[in-house]
Amino acid sequence: MNIRLARVDDMLGMQAANLQNLPENYVMKFWMYHAMTWPQISFVAEDHKGRIVGYVLAKIEEDSEEKGEPVHGHVNSISVLRSYRRLGLAKKLMLLSQEAMVNVYKAEYVSLHVRKSNKAAIGLYRDTLGFEVAKVEKKYYGDGEDALSMRLSLKNT
Ligand code: ACO
Repeated sequence: MNIRLARVDDMLGMQAANLQNLPENYVMKFWMYHAMTWPQISFVAEDHKGRIVGYVLAKIEEDSEEKGEPVHGHVNSISVLRSYRRLGLAKKLMLLSQEAMVNVYKAEYVSLHVRKSNKAAIGLYRDTLGFEVAKVEKKYYGDGEDALSMRLSLKNT
């Protein structure tokens, strides 16, 4: 398995993986915007044939200065195809993105939203990576499920 920076021509493969793995899907313009605006902080995992089996799509929050917040990254979406799970791919993708957020943008923390029922992802964020719950956002998702808004300080990265 090879993990590398995501390129613009990976966006179709990333979108396909996202469609298989998550109910939150995005139009191609959204994927391209991320790839072109923050090209250093999204990563893919590919198999030996170059097929994308996992990805992390991240951005730097755009209005942090106006809000008086420190520069921070935000993970929009991460997923790994079912048959490639529990191999440490998501952990590696997250760590690479977090490291690049610090090195390239001097991000002070990283944030994300996760469904409160998503045990696997919460396990990854909280137990493996050290994220904490900043708040619960009621009915955040289209189907009415609450989101955990989670954060990880990147100050000691
Ligand atoms: N149950 C409990 N804990 C889990 C599980 C699980 N099913 N899967 C992963 N973890 C935790 C464990 O602590 C694990 O460490 P361990 O294997 O040493 O016990 C740790 O996460 C790291 O696991 P990885 O192997 O790196 O995770 P994986 O590559 O399997 O990907 C992911 C995890 C991305 C959550 C995967 O299950 C997936 O694609 N799920 C569907 C999509 C999804 O829910 N994405 C997150 C939505 S939120 C967002 O995108 C911001």
